[in-house]
Amino acid sequence: MQVNDFHDLYIAELSELRSVETQLAEHLADLATQATDKTLSNAIRTHRSVTQTHRDRINTLLQDHGASAGNGHDDASMHAILAETDKWVGMIGDSDLRDAGLIASLQRMEHYEIAVLGTLASWAKKLGYDRDATVLSAILQDDKAADAYLTDIATNGHDRPPP
Ligand SMILES: [Fe+2]
Repeated sequence: MQVNDFHDLYIAELSELRSVETQLAEHLADLATQATDKTLSNAIRTHRSVTQTHRDRINTLLQDHGASAGNGHDDASMHAILAETDKWVGMIGDSDLRDAGLIASLQRMEHYEIAVLGTLASWAKKLGYDRDATVLSAILQDDKAADAYLTDIATNGHDRPPP
């Protein structure tokens, strides 16, 4: 799509975010099966369900701006992070080490999402798209909580209650 003004830039970035969430929603179920620690695999499964709702809410925002489902960008950065994750997971035989590698990769995904969401929430506010800003800020809080929970699992181990 041609970007001519701030609104176009916002829609282009929101389309990138839809691609990020779509890729994650598709990939997290498989990553959950690679985790050995039950708390970690449950956390990944739970975050997959949350990510599906994020994808749907972003889709609704795009539709309300009149952006068609077919105009989507395919976010190459998230493709690369997921490809690296698959490579990592395949290289590590020890289950505890693989879980540690998985957490590192999952936090890379969350940090990338958090960066995109932070930008978009602030752009939505500047553009006066208050509903978008509210939705994006809520998703941002979910991802920050997921990131903190991963840190908690990594540092404190098992049987932590989810956020
Ligand atoms: Fe997330």
